Amino acid sequence: MNLQPLIEIRNVVKVYSSEAGDFTALRGVDLDIRRGEFLGIVGKSGAGKSTLLNMLTGVDHATSGEVVVRAEKEVYIHRLDEDELALWRGQTMGVVYQSFQLLPMLTLLENVMLPMDLCGLYSPRKSRERALELLRLVEIDEHANKLPAFISGGQQQRVAIARALANDPAILVADEPTGSLDSVTADHIFDLFEKLVESGKTIVMVTHDSGLTPRFSRHLVIADGQIVAEHADKLLEVGKLDAMEERLRTFPEPVAAPQEAEDGETAEEAEPGPIVRAWPQDKPEKKKKKTKEGKKEKKKKKSGKKEKPE
Ligand SMILES: Nc1ncnc2c1ncn2[C@@H]1O[C@H](COP(=O)(O)OP(=O)(O)OP(=O)(O)O)[C@@H](O)[C@H]1O
Ligand SMILES: [Mg+2]
Repeated sequence: MNLQPLIEIRNVVKVYSSEAGDFTALRGVDLDIRRGEFLGIVGKSGAGKSTLLNMLTGVDHATSGEVVVRAEKEVYIHRLDEDELALWRGQTMGVVYQSFQLLPMLTLLENVMLPMDLCGLYSPRKSRERALELLRLVEIDEHANKLPAFISGGQQQRVAIARALANDPAILVADEPTGSLDSVTADHIFDLFEKLVESGKTIVMVTHDSGLTPRFSRHLVIADGQIVAEHADKLLEVGKLDAMEERLRTFPEPVAAPQEAEDGETAEEAEPGPIVRAWPQDKPEKKKKKTKEGKKEKKKKKSGKKEKPE
């Protein structure tokens, strides 16, 4: 198991230069994103959320600092040239852009097929079938042969989500993917994202909707180009993950689990159990001692007698 973060952002600074002068949009951001996280990013307009996503997808270059992504292999994304980066991103990340970025001359179906055709992971017939399936998933398949200009903003957003899932990427990066949707459709998309996380994908998502934050595993608040707060929304799960990683570090060797001997069998004769990891700190829960009071209580429950009020 790879214990290093899936995405590592180290001291990333982004300065936009224009005629009006320089503007620092990110001021030395450090961030680790682990496999299987559903990470939310919130913050006011202009805080630097989209800029940060552009750094971790490699859509834009950092002025300084480093971004490492360890999906199938370890990649320092700003060391790739544009062609390598495009191919790597196509296979590794699905990106939902804030402004959708659908190609206007292609139908919705063709827009979703495009990443599959570019990366060559599916045959042309399979990519068409898969594109239709994805459009169905986001409930927009009836418009499959229309051009983007002839559907609404919310519908375009759903096509952008379908396109991001085209190559079945390990990582989904989504910039306000529910921003143009009504609450019912937004909820449907969020359910879909939760299922993707359950199936092992990692999602990084920007949102303005503070009502969504409890549904993330963790969320960050960005202000003025910096991470100013971090909240573990599903404390238990994040805590569990940490504990599991710590256990793997301290006791990584697999051993056969002892299995209880069946009646008439000695412990040695019993079939060996499945291969599991044994954690030395895991003590079996002690059985409660049988006390006189406990026994009385049990008897009372069995007989169904209620205690008389005093
Ligand atoms: N290409 C650019 N050139 C100059 N400044 C830019 C450029 N892109 C973004 N900025 C500035 O960088 C800052 C951060 O922009 P960014 O788009 O990351 O904000 P955001 O948090 O995504 O905002 P929103 O919620 O409105 O989408 C803003 O002040 C913005 O004006
Ligand atoms: Mg933005």
